Amino acid sequence: MKAAIMGYGVVGSGVGEILLKNAALIENKLGEKIEIKYVLDLRDFPGDVLENRLTKNFEDILADDEVKLVCEAMGGTKPAYEFTKRLLEAGKHVVSSNKELVATYGYELLKTAKEHNVNYLFEAAVGGGVPILRPLWQCLGANHIERFYGILNGTTNFILTKMYNEDMPFDEALALAQQLGYAEKDPTADIAGADVCRKTCILASISFGKHIDPAQVQTQGIQDIHIRDVSYAKANGYEIKLLGFCEKLENGKIDAIVAPFFVPKENQIATVSDVFNGIVVVGDMVDEVFFYGRGAGSLPTASACVADLMDCAMHADKRKNFGWGERDAAFVEKHANCKTTYFVRGEGDINEVKKVFGDVTFLSLQGAPLDEVAFITAKETESALDKKLADIGNLHISAKIRVL
Ligand code: HSE
Repeated sequence: MKAAIMGYGVVGSGVGEILLKNAALIENKLGEKIEIKYVLDLRDFPGDVLENRLTKNFEDILADDEVKLVCEAMGGTKPAYEFTKRLLEAGKHVVSSNKELVATYGYELLKTAKEHNVNYLFEAAVGGGVPILRPLWQCLGANHIERFYGILNGTTNFILTKMYNEDMPFDEALALAQQLGYAEKDPTADIAGADVCRKTCILASISFGKHIDPAQVQTQGIQDIHIRDVSYAKANGYEIKLLGFCEKLENGKIDAIVAPFFVPKENQIATVSDVFNGIVVVGDMVDEVFFYGRGAGSLPTASACVADLMDCAMHADKRKNFGWGERDAAFVEKHANCKTTYFVRGEGDINEVKKVFGDVTFLSLQGAPLDEVAFITAKETESALDKKLADIGNLHISAKIRVL
């Protein structure tokens, strides 16, 4: 079967490498070869093993009836949305690593794929090389998903690990992540949580059956995490992790949030460090399942894309049943209405805190300034918490971090 790769960057070149390196294995499994006929990129790649397949013209791929499989590894929504839609309409199967595209237009593209009896698969878009979407849909298909939470961004997990293990300040850890090639020159999408938000939306859409849009998910990054908060976490049995969290509520809606969390050390997620990803899924029948592995990088991410290409080849005539329903603005509960436990750090009088909060758990840290107060609240809504904090005389809040 003939294939095309769109975007010859980190992921696209990995897809090319795997299709060439593991060609015999792939042919053995499928009973036929996957041959790369085109590589679409505006750049030149002199001396590259696939140099003679390069095209700068998308129409070459679209018009070629021999090409049945396309891997989109371009990133962004323009022109990836238009290209993907036209390919699906032309009866070609498309696989993608593009989380922004799927989180934004997943419902529309899956609908188009269904209408044209082709597959649109994107295992690589969440967790990179970690199998999570297919297990959620297929292996856990007999469960109502109750909750999932996970570390979905390698760059921020690397930064938090450095802050935690080496007491490295945020700016220094970010500079190191950039130096090692993990963080982009403009790291905003990672640091501010947008990347985790997109992945959380995709997981939520598959788990709960309706398209969840990034605009519906309250998102907070790690840029305000202070090294002192990390020290409190360490001294009191917690890790700090940036999590995508989503849970089915009793009222039938879901709570979805992207934010840094204090994670108890005994939780599986607390063991996920450096650039690794980890996701816990709780189903009503299976209970808790944990997924772990490399969430970024050329070959891990490309391995998921190639497996999707193979799945498309295996389901070339009979499309896989995969997808979710339309957006429903009311389906995501306002996070402000959802109750959470918080870590709070500030400067003030502990007795004033006790008067308003009663019997909360106070945390200690050797060497902390005498007027510093840190405590873990009971479960409450953020607005109730903010009101109580405002009621405490002369308390200056320095940090407010959710606790898992
Ligand atoms: N920037 C992302 C990360 C790449 O660091 O995890 C994979 O989506």
